[in-house]
Amino acid sequence: MDKFVVKGPSKIKGIVSCSGSKNLALPLLSATLLFDKPVVLKNLPNVRDVQTMLSLLKILGSKIELSKNKKIVKISKGRKTKLLAPHSLISTMRAGILVLGPLVAKYGSAVTAFPGGCVLNGKSGRPINFHLDALKTLGMKFELKGGYIHAWSNGKLNGSIIRFKNISVGASQQTILSAVIAKNKTFVHNIALEPEVLELIKFLNLAGANIKFIGKRSLMIKGVTSLNSINFNIMGDRIEAGTFAVLACLNQGKLEIKNFNPKYIKKEIECLKKIGAKIKVFKNKIFIKGPKNIKNIKKINTQEAPGFPTDIAPIFTVLLCHAKGRSVITENIFHSRTMHIFELRRLGAKIDIEGNKIIINGNSKFLGAELTSSDLRGSAALVLAATISNGVSKVLRVYQLDRGYEKFENKLKKIGVKIKRKK
Ligand code: EPU
Repeated sequence: MDKFVVKGPSKIKGIVSCSGSKNLALPLLSATLLFDKPVVLKNLPNVRDVQTMLSLLKILGSKIELSKNKKIVKISKGRKTKLLAPHSLISTMRAGILVLGPLVAKYGSAVTAFPGGCVLNGKSGRPINFHLDALKTLGMKFELKGGYIHAWSNGKLNGSIIRFKNISVGASQQTILSAVIAKNKTFVHNIALEPEVLELIKFLNLAGANIKFIGKRSLMIKGVTSLNSINFNIMGDRIEAGTFAVLACLNQGKLEIKNFNPKYIKKEIECLKKIGAKIKVFKNKIFIKGPKNIKNIKKINTQEAPGFPTDIAPIFTVLLCHAKGRSVITENIFHSRTMHIFELRRLGAKIDIEGNKIIINGNSKFLGAELTSSDLRGSAALVLAATISNGVSKVLRVYQLDRGYEKFENKLKKIGVKIKRKK
């Protein structure tokens, strides 16, 4: 398994460009199962989860044509669509479950394994009950057998009223993907407003779907019989942008971060200004200058969009270790998102965990150490921590990071981090 060797501290300066959003690319790739005509996606991120999703589509019978640089993909319906999504692919990423709805909506049945991905638990593990309940309301029937969901519908899925008890990005996407070609109208209440949900709606509407907001978190989806061929540009990855912004702040760096929409990291920008960063915001990029002294932030609460995103909280934890004073991050989405903290303590972090509160005591000086990655964003947090540690750190098992950050070490090298990938 690959590891990163990082020599800190670093001087950060230059221009860094965001890749396409992984968490948007995945539902868009699932959506291609709904089409009879080809779909072209541009700015595709070349990360492991996307490669896995492409392999899954191939197994399901789709024809995949990738450009030489792997940034553009054309996906066409194959001669025969297969309906079995195997454990070997689905078990490595959460978004694999998003093929279930489209397959049942379009072909009337599917057998899919349970999804995997980062081990991040909410109040009760990381279940898919909201996905299954919503699909059931639309008329899907299913049985759970041998780790697989055996699903079918008698005829087409039928529009209905779905009201989510809690907000879920994946279940919102699953429902939209399934209702878009169902019979009649579907009303969905309490949907997620993450940019990756909004962009999925935009993509489907451009392809001829009929999805309208009828309230702040309510949608009306009028089923259509088919979707038109479409050419769509995947937006830049907001989590990657936030990661680079924090890197600049940690290392008194000066960065231009481009190819993403700054309006999707509003909360992060607010917090980075609070810790003392100077930030200039443009349409598709920001300039950021890290402060000499990082100020603490008394309270950060992770929330569904438009709140502070859970995915960037591990990255901010590293930043706040170097603040003058105590900060508290309350993790409200994934209560077990704390694995990186045990590793940060090896570097010298003074962090306490009380329930879902992460108490960061600040004023830390990190000394290089050997660290083990546990999940995708936690791994990025460890790499950032290594850039500000004195001496050499090794970040092991970076396959987690490779699931969602494209050419991370190359991008970091170009802006001043001394980092090498080793087998
Ligand atoms: N939940 C349920 N039942 C469900 C679905 C979710 O109880 O059927 C709970 C979860 O356990 C969690 C909460 O609801 O406590 C929210 O989960 P959500 O469904 O919104 O998350 P997700 O769709 O599984 C996506 C991203 C995550 C990101 C979350 C929250 C993708 C592929 N994943 O996950 O991204 O943290 O939304 O914004 O889009 C990452 O990129 O590193 C990552 C983990």
